[in-house]
Amino acid sequence: MQAIIGTDPAEAAQRLSRGELVALPTETVYGLGGHALNLRAVTNIFRAKNRPSFDPLILHQSDTDRIFRYARRVPEGARALAEACWPGPLTLVLERQPTVPDLVTAGLGTVALRVPDHPLTRDVLSRVDFPVAAPSANPFGYVSPVTARHVADQLGDRIDYILDGGACRVGLESTIVTFDGNGQPIVLRKGGTPVEQLEDILQQSVSVRTHGSSRPEAPGMLSRHYSPGVPLTLVERADGSGTAEHAIVRFGSPARNAYEYSLSENGQLEEAAHRLFVTLRSLADAGYREATVEMVPENGLGLAINDRLRRAAR
Ligand code: TXA
Ligand code: MG
Repeated sequence: MQAIIGTDPAEAAQRLSRGELVALPTETVYGLGGHALNLRAVTNIFRAKNRPSFDPLILHQSDTDRIFRYARRVPEGARALAEACWPGPLTLVLERQPTVPDLVTAGLGTVALRVPDHPLTRDVLSRVDFPVAAPSANPFGYVSPVTARHVADQLGDRIDYILDGGACRVGLESTIVTFDGNGQPIVLRKGGTPVEQLEDILQQSVSVRTHGSSRPEAPGMLSRHYSPGVPLTLVERADGSGTAEHAIVRFGSPARNAYEYSLSENGQLEEAAHRLFVTLRSLADAGYREATVEMVPENGLGLAINDRLRRAAR
């Protein structure tokens, strides 16, 4: 059975309540949503993605009060970030309430919480009285989906309903932040909220601890992630021109022929983030043997873009 693709938040909410799997649009990427307190639904999320059970899920709700219910304690810094960034591309990892199933948190003492910024999905979330667990709606290890079509192509036969909210505005997953025992913020995944913005809000420096090992702190940040299925070489500036065998992805200049792509012709990082995953998928779909990709400046959203490129190139 192929998933129904629709635009009805009430139907999406009903299906989630019944324990069905529903793909949801967010400002970052599409999520594979399920009732987080329903163990059958959560089990089906892991199964649909082929995701290992040690990799915990993010809980989503429509506003700060409703999502903080699942945290045992909210540090001051977390409250400040929530106030400034939600709804938006930020996930907070906090001590969890016992009501959150072990299956969701992979047995960790913490839980990941997020208020996404998409009108359709906030409408869905406001209609249900439970949190929605939603990993990115891609098979484990693959590039995250940024359109309903991406979801349908890869997981359409494993889920019940896809809520079509158009192309994701940001195009990169949320930035994940936790707090140590002294309330000091730590970034576990670079993403759609730049680290500099977190520092502005908190008025302090924020450390980044994203691992590429097999026992990372954010367990999903395995080194081989975001695989586009085409060998990538990352460079500062690409020489030559793209060919039918060998694509070039540029940044800060236009594509020169049909085998070239540009993340942003005039060097805009937001545009590059928005186009990144679509471009990686195009490389695989077009069947290139390899691709050379220009990296972007290491600041703002560029940190997260280069992070995804490095993982895709491993
Ligand atoms: O933008 C996003 O965050 C998207 C949309 C759908 O909300 N979701 C997303 O989920 O990217 P996922 O499952 O693909 O990535 C979530 C990451 C994983 O790396 C997971 O290991 C980490 O969050 N994570 C979840 N719970 C955690 C916890 N308690 N402690 C540390 N890391 C956690
Ligand atoms: Mg993911």
